[in-house]
Amino acid sequence: MDERVALVTGAGQGVGRAIALASARQGARIVIVNDYVEERARRVAEEVTAMNIGVQGFPCQADVTQWAEVSRMIKEVADKFGSVDVLVNNAGNAGHAVADVMGSSREFVETDPDDWDAWVDVNFLAPMYLARAVLPHMISQEWGRIINVISEAGRVGEPRLVVYSGAKAGTAGFSRALAKEVGRHNITVNCVALGTIDTPGVSSVVGDSALLKKMSARYPLKRIGQPEDVAGLVAFLGSADASWITGQTYGVNGGYATLP
Ligand SMILES: NC(=O)c1ccc[n+]([C@@H]2O[C@H](COP(=O)([O-])OP(=O)(O)OC[C@H]3O[C@@H](n4cnc5c(N)ncnc54)[C@H](O)[C@@H]3O)[C@@H](O)[C@H]2O)c1
Repeated sequence: MDERVALVTGAGQGVGRAIALASARQGARIVIVNDYVEERARRVAEEVTAMNIGVQGFPCQADVTQWAEVSRMIKEVADKFGSVDVLVNNAGNAGHAVADVMGSSREFVETDPDDWDAWVDVNFLAPMYLARAVLPHMISQEWGRIINVISEAGRVGEPRLVVYSGAKAGTAGFSRALAKEVGRHNITVNCVALGTIDTPGVSSVVGDSALLKKMSARYPLKRIGQPEDVAGLVAFLGSADASWITGQTYGVNGGYATLP
């Protein structure tokens, strides 16, 4: 990442944590570890710094579903480090309501419109807030990388996760359009679409081993993913080597979906 400043949202655990560590290994200068839960952000930022490869981890507590908090965070980062060069919008699932909301996982017709905000805010609005906040700097320096973590639910659809599927599909559509707008500034925008990954957010709702076995059987590679299975591709998309790749969505899914 050529000494860049990378910011990963929701990086206090799971996929985001693995992306933060992979970004450090890929040569970022600073890795900003955002999480809504301050303690998680602090722990992962310490892990990054403790790698002892000359990369500094910096924790940044903010709820990315709140525009005011996103603006405050980006200003703080700009004041300290000058910029965000690589943005990874990873915070997602049901946001901080993860166990409550994912556990309930009802058919769409049984949901109440009041239930939808938790899914839409973190999976759709937050990536737009972050992109909006970092783009002025990326445009002025004529370089930037935005990577949005979506789900295969957004491409093939997932029953009982209908609003989530729609929100992730929205982020993919937003990414494709934004890629066309900002390409002339040497800014790329891509998505990675995940199958089931073994993270705290997911194990809090599919913790039992019988269910895990059943889920694994749905994958041609006969296992669900690990956070590290995702992190390498994201770090690559944030690197100089990925400079002619934009507007794309890549599946990281153990073969679950094979889209053309
Ligand atoms: N794990 C999976 O099976 C899976 C599958 C498909 C897509 N995804 C996507 O991958 C991404 C990461 O998933 P995960 O399973 O690692 O998540 P997770 O729920 O295990 O961890 C998410 C982290 O984000 C933080 N967070 C949540 N809401 C936030 C907010 N509003 N502001 C700041 N931080 C916030 C949480 O505190 C938590 O530390 C999400 O976008 C998710 O939708 C995950």
